[in-house]
Amino acid sequence: MDDRLDMANKTAKPDFAGDRRVGRNEDIKGRFLVIKTTFGCLRGYALADGESLTKYANNPKIAGNLRDGFPYPYTRENALEFISIAMSKTPPTLLAIANDREVIGGIGLMVKTDVHRLTAELGYWLGEPFWGMGIVPEAVRAIVNYGFESLGLLRISAEPYSSNPASCRVLEKAGFVFEGRQKNNVIKNGKILDSMMFAITCEPKA
Ligand SMILES: CC(C)(COP(=O)(O)OP(=O)(O)OC[C@H]1O[C@@H](n2cnc3c(N)ncnc32)[C@H](O)[C@@H]1OP(=O)(O)O)[C@@H](O)C(=O)NCCC(=O)NCCS
Repeated sequence: MDDRLDMANKTAKPDFAGDRRVGRNEDIKGRFLVIKTTFGCLRGYALADGESLTKYANNPKIAGNLRDGFPYPYTRENALEFISIAMSKTPPTLLAIANDREVIGGIGLMVKTDVHRLTAELGYWLGEPFWGMGIVPEAVRAIVNYGFESLGLLRISAEPYSSNPASCRVLEKAGFVFEGRQKNNVIKNGKILDSMMFAITCEPKA
């Protein structure tokens, strides 16, 4: 087996004893989260990530597939505001997709409330130079494992727009099940779109 893959299989579980130099996205015991992957890792953000976050997020092909809260143009101020929100989450739920040099994308679990508090909605994006390398499917599998094993979630869903077959494919590759098409659920950049409901679940622990 490829050494990097072997290492990823052994280390895919969340590691809260990671490198504290890169930021303060900590769990309740004050430990920094790093989930190792073959491309690098999922980890908490640090203020120093502002430059690479702005470089890759500032892309209409990315913003066009996300909620309106992800702006285009995406400025350094937008990046720093997002990073400070991400760093305030305990336990961490908004993670950077990073290689060994910089942040190349983002992935997050929006944990719901009230009767839906054991479920979360998944969102993600990747810098365009890195598309087509299988990075996001691996990142999705890693954060799903974190959500089930460390956050105690039982259901994680995602709702790509009908205009985004690449994202639907990512979810299929990561083991999500297509639950149905939600007609006219979205207005994005003036267009009415359907959304495609995907979910993955795990059984409650006895
Ligand atoms: C969608 C996105 C997350 C994919 O990430 P990625 O790491 O490049 O994913 P992959 O490497 O698995 O490549 C995409 C897959 O979709 C497929 N795909 C791409 N365009 C497609 C299309 N028009 N129709 C069908 N499949 C398509 C690719 O062939 C590939 O599948 P394969 O490995 O079976 O060949 C990335 O392109 C992105 O960030 N896009 C902008 C933001 C976004 O859409 N976020 C998701 C919002 S729900």
